[in-house]
Amino acid sequence: MAVADENRVRIFDTTLRDGEQAPGCSMTLSEKLRVARALDQLRVDVIEAGFAAASPGDLESVAAVAREVQHASVASLARCNPEDIEKAWEAVQHAAKPRIHVFVATSEIHRTHKLNMAREEILNTAVGAIRMARERCADIEFSPEDASRTEPEFLTEIVTAAIEAGATTINVPDTVGYTVPQEFEALFRHLIETVPNVADAILSVHCHDDLGMAVANSLAAVRGGARQVECTINGIGERAGNCSLEEVVMAIDTRAEWFGLHTNVDTTRLYPTARLVSSITGMHIPRNKAIVGDNAFAHEAGIHQHGMLKHASTYEIMRPERVGISRSNLVLGKHSGRHAFRDRIAELGFELDDFSLNAAFNRFKALADKKKDIYDSDIEALVMNDPGGNDGPWYLDDLTVTTSTGAHATATVDMHRGDAPHVVEAAVGGGPVEAACMALERITGINLELQHYDVRGVSIGEDAQGEVTITVTFSGATYRGHGISTDIVEASARAWLEVINRILRRREKGLDDLGGGEEAVQATI
Ligand code: KIV
Ligand code: ZN
Repeated sequence: MAVADENRVRIFDTTLRDGEQAPGCSMTLSEKLRVARALDQLRVDVIEAGFAAASPGDLESVAAVAREVQHASVASLARCNPEDIEKAWEAVQHAAKPRIHVFVATSEIHRTHKLNMAREEILNTAVGAIRMARERCADIEFSPEDASRTEPEFLTEIVTAAIEAGATTINVPDTVGYTVPQEFEALFRHLIETVPNVADAILSVHCHDDLGMAVANSLAAVRGGARQVECTINGIGERAGNCSLEEVVMAIDTRAEWFGLHTNVDTTRLYPTARLVSSITGMHIPRNKAIVGDNAFAHEAGIHQHGMLKHASTYEIMRPERVGISRSNLVLGKHSGRHAFRDRIAELGFELDDFSLNAAFNRFKALADKKKDIYDSDIEALVMNDPGGNDGPWYLDDLTVTTSTGAHATATVDMHRGDAPHVVEAAVGGGPVEAACMALERITGINLELQHYDVRGVSIGEDAQGEVTITVTFSGATYRGHGISTDIVEASARAWLEVINRILRRREKGLDDLGGGEEAVQATI
């Protein structure tokens, strides 16, 4: 396959596969669809939607993403065996542009300790799998896992055979985040020099961030000839994560003259997409994170501010608008109307239908009653977090807590369900959050086990909202819940109730309590 535009770097997003493998980053089907839509709007070239063979739930979500996505290719990962390839094809076959991504480990360490296979066996397995996948799908990617620690001459041999067997993209993963930029650039140059049919495939790079060099290594690979970069939003992924999409894209964009390359990404969608993924996964973006962190465009030092006032380019190498940040000094409040709210939402890069806009506006009005100034980050949180429990069956009408240092806390909860009379229940806990959640459990009869609790201040000021993200288990399945309020005990109770309601809705639909399906966070391998 000839490379159509030699100067275009394809962006392969694996947030839904490698990103989702990060601890605590599992997503429900509806969350994956939201992320997939955002990635498609961002104009990435390939969305790796999951690992179809991992579980029936994974297959279902890859298939749903494949049907949903309009522009990007949709890929499923598969090991080099017939069952995985069949499942991958079953999942992606209805995509506008399907891709199967097969992989097998090639390094000596993996061959000896993981696979117990000789080089030749691995090569034959890869070739057989690629041929089988190619009979079903025209677009095949092959990854020699742990390529950066594989003997270069074996890499040449297996890559040549893979292209010969029909692979259209060859991905070179730095699976354990071990390589360094110069070494990795040289590896790509080695492949270009030694693989005779290299022009028939696109070379791809896939880096992990164990030594903090995933972006640098990916850019070095691009200098060495890679024309696809595999990355994730906010760099989420296994262990220290993957190459960050927004960083690699903006490096190519900002230093276009140096690289002489471009991507098809709509960079103005980077910020909203990063915030969406952060809000869904509960993986907060550090304030100083490049490109999308709160401080990425903040200038504190007087000397910098002075320079900025004279000319932005003194201390700013890219405009915030270029990455979709349109920070204005405009602060909304209780007198702001629907138009101002709608305009601000559009400026922040969100596209809401009338129903969601109305719901968000009602939440905005409720917040404006409690909080004088409403900042952009409050609005982002309002749009992305439907406060837990709003879809019922249970509704929280009142929560009263009393707490004192050195003693237990008491919570009284008033709730209703449908037209039935209100139920009031009290509980005593070690702290106010525990007491409130116990009271909720007494009323609803659903007892959750907390795995992870996270609270984050959304904006600034003493009346700032707190966003609570919980990961809990119930009956063997893992769920994540979000709640947001100016009162963090209420935010916690709402996150708790959101999960309880999801479990009850599953029961009402006749689904069992165990994972999978729309509501529970799915397990990945
Ligand atoms: O890191 C890795 O090697 C991978 C492969 C499956 C591409 O994620
Ligand atoms: Zn990986």
